[in-house]
Amino acid sequence: YPLRDRTPGPSRISVVAHRGASEDAPEHTLAAYRRAIEDGADALECDVRLTADGHLVCVHDRRVNRTSNGRGAVSALELADLAALDFGSWKEDEDAAWEAPDRQHEDPERTSVLTLERLLELVSDADRRVELAIETKHPTRWAGQVEERLVALLERFGHTRASADGPPPVRVMSFSARSLHRVRAAAPDIPGVYLMQFLTPRHRDGRLPPGVGIAGPGVRILRAHPDYVAKAHRAGHQVHVWTVNDEADVELCERLGVDAIITNRPKQVRVQLGLD
Ligand code: G3P
Ligand code: CA
Repeated sequence: YPLRDRTPGPSRISVVAHRGASEDAPEHTLAAYRRAIEDGADALECDVRLTADGHLVCVHDRRVNRTSNGRGAVSALELADLAALDFGSWKEDEDAAWEAPDRQHEDPERTSVLTLERLLELVSDADRRVELAIETKHPTRWAGQVEERLVALLERFGHTRASADGPPPVRVMSFSARSLHRVRAAAPDIPGVYLMQFLTPRHRDGRLPPGVGIAGPGVRILRAHPDYVAKAHRAGHQVHVWTVNDEADVELCERLGVDAIITNRPKQVRVQLGLD
């Protein structure tokens, strides 16, 4: 994966909308992603899980309890079960004190479960290049099925191969090196991002699992180990940092020269970076 041009200047940092513009709209809904594109995000982050009947859907938690009016594990529910749930009203309730109620409850783009396929269509229809950063969640449970279906779906959209423009407009992220390895074995051109919650001794010098091009540290790692970014760059890796919502953390990322900031607030981060 090519290292970005490190010419000084804020415009070089890519802004990635975490679960869409999830501060302003219910996470992982079409509305949140539309908003992120409107807000100027360079890329959209989403978590994917497999339903009981084999569909990839954009849901973060193992269970639907937090982000919908239903209960149960995504893996035990079929797509039709998820389609009957309301994935938006929890957010409206949370924001009710300062947002106009009711109207948004009726908007299916704010309340419906989102399939990865629909998100890929949204990105394809955008009038500019918008990248997708897809995170495989707990892929070990499915012993390769998540990656297999993911690659098959990306292939349908023509996103598995590099072109003259560079790498495909999608990358796959995971805390699991095994999951990244599976994707790489099936589609070597798709960049992989190795997510890290803690900096283990094995990765402290900036090295990543074999074949993985991009480091994905949590911002807490950068607060504790600011020299990590330079080390990863020296090892030839881009650094994509999550989840950067505070101004002080954006400033830290900018100062350390990270390559991408993953945030719930793409608009505000772009403004802080001087991009808007
Ligand atoms: O972008 C990576 C980040 O999303 C990982 O943490 O829990 O928000 O999926 P989580
Ligand atoms: Ca994620």
